[in-house]
Amino acid sequence: MTMSFNGFHRLYYIISIALLLQPPSAIAGDSILSRFQQYLQINTSHPSPNYHQAADFILSQAKSLSLESRTIEFVKNKPLILLKWPGKNPDLPSILLNSHTDVVPVEPHKWSHPPFDATIDPENGNIYARGSQDMKCVGLQYLEAIRKLKDSKFEPLRTIYVSFVPDEEIGGLDGAKRFANSKIFDEMNVGIVLDEGLASPEDKYRLFYAERRAMSLVIKATGAPGHGAKMYDNTAMENLLKSIESVRRFRASQFDLVKAGVKAEGEVISVNMVFLKAGTPSPTGFVMNLQPSEAQAGFDIRVPPIADHDQASLERRIAEEWAPASRNMTFEIRQFKQKDSGKPILTAYDSSNPWWTLIEEAIVKAKGKIGKPEIFPASTDARYFRMKGVHAIGFSPMANTPILLHDHNEFLNKEEYLKGIEVYESILKAFASFVEAKNGEDSLGDEL
Ligand SMILES: *[C@@H]1O[C@H](CO)[C@@H](O)[C@H](O)[C@H]1NC(C)=O
Ligand SMILES: *[C@@H]1O[C@H](CO)[C@@H](O)[C@H](O)[C@H]1NC(C)=O
Ligand SMILES: [Zn+2]
Repeated sequence: MTMSFNGFHRLYYIISIALLLQPPSAIAGDSILSRFQQYLQINTSHPSPNYHQAADFILSQAKSLSLESRTIEFVKNKPLILLKWPGKNPDLPSILLNSHTDVVPVEPHKWSHPPFDATIDPENGNIYARGSQDMKCVGLQYLEAIRKLKDSKFEPLRTIYVSFVPDEEIGGLDGAKRFANSKIFDEMNVGIVLDEGLASPEDKYRLFYAERRAMSLVIKATGAPGHGAKMYDNTAMENLLKSIESVRRFRASQFDLVKAGVKAEGEVISVNMVFLKAGTPSPTGFVMNLQPSEAQAGFDIRVPPIADHDQASLERRIAEEWAPASRNMTFEIRQFKQKDSGKPILTAYDSSNPWWTLIEEAIVKAKGKIGKPEIFPASTDARYFRMKGVHAIGFSPMANTPILLHDHNEFLNKEEYLKGIEVYESILKAFASFVEAKNGEDSLGDEL
């Protein structure tokens, strides 16, 4: 936008008067919110996210905070912004605050407020925008917390890095995955990563120590084709339906555990059918008097971090019950590989991990409540850092908030947003000041 000099002066004058009429805390709150709105207004939705505009915005914020910055393009036109606040003791493992800049697409006509306007509803203070929960809130809350710490003359002992990565919503291959496996990342000597969590409809924040692994399964049935009028055994459709019934029983058994409150969503294996493919096409639809010789179905499966033998038993179930060769069935599995060690990938959430204790204490100190540690039901970039053996905690400070990520009318209340900044301020203070005990009972297991 361009503006004439006169226009600029008039605007400045109006802003000055507006500022004089408000108490200082309201002014600070307003500029914090307007920065959040500016970030939300940048359309970084797939399939063509405006990454450069987001990068420019973040770099301008970094400049105003006197943070060191670099732009890394592991893949051209997919910038990753890395900011650095050097600690007084650069030899200590650093802290990495990660967030992704991309958001999922929207269906604008299904929204009550335009998804890239970041309108604040004057009635209730809700900020409506794609990315308000997932996860532009977190990215800017990191920076606002740093702003507050700098204003209070806090000096970190450990170096704090802030990364803004592309492509999380399409798997992170050109973003966090390349980053976590880069020399740059190794040189950062990261001790703890914070990444995204989920909103909580209750008053308790949620902390995630692991996530379910995505698996996709396609099962195929074959059988003798025949007339639509004839009943005979072993048709492709019948063979496939037997499998689908078996999958459904398993799905129900897992879902029942969640419904009964025995297990959390992230602790069970979810199986959902996502496609069915069969039939012989005709100009008007499908040939109706012919039983086809092939039929297939596809499933999205999410598996909690489990040991190798449990994984093996799941694969056996698929081979023996869901797609048995004896029923002329075949299957294909695609999955995210666990580490070679065969151990589940997770971040310890007990006293063996001092970062976990620190974050819990820091949240409570900021007057936040915490639920019990959870497994993230879907995938996030945190898995790439955990695979490198680095602790990663999933956390988005949104309590009393409906879970609306990827949904229409995604919003975050402005009070929750501001509260989240105070929580991060408390966490960063604790993390950046933390010194491990060198010897004796308090020292870390892997240092002994
Ligand atoms: C946002 O960007 C997407 C492309 O990634 C585009 O399809 C959409 O129309 C844009 N929305 C607005 C409001 O500019
Ligand atoms: C498997 O396929 C063979 C060869 O087409 C057929 O003879 C047999 O009946 C089929 N078995 C089942 C269980 O579908
Ligand atoms: Zn996200």
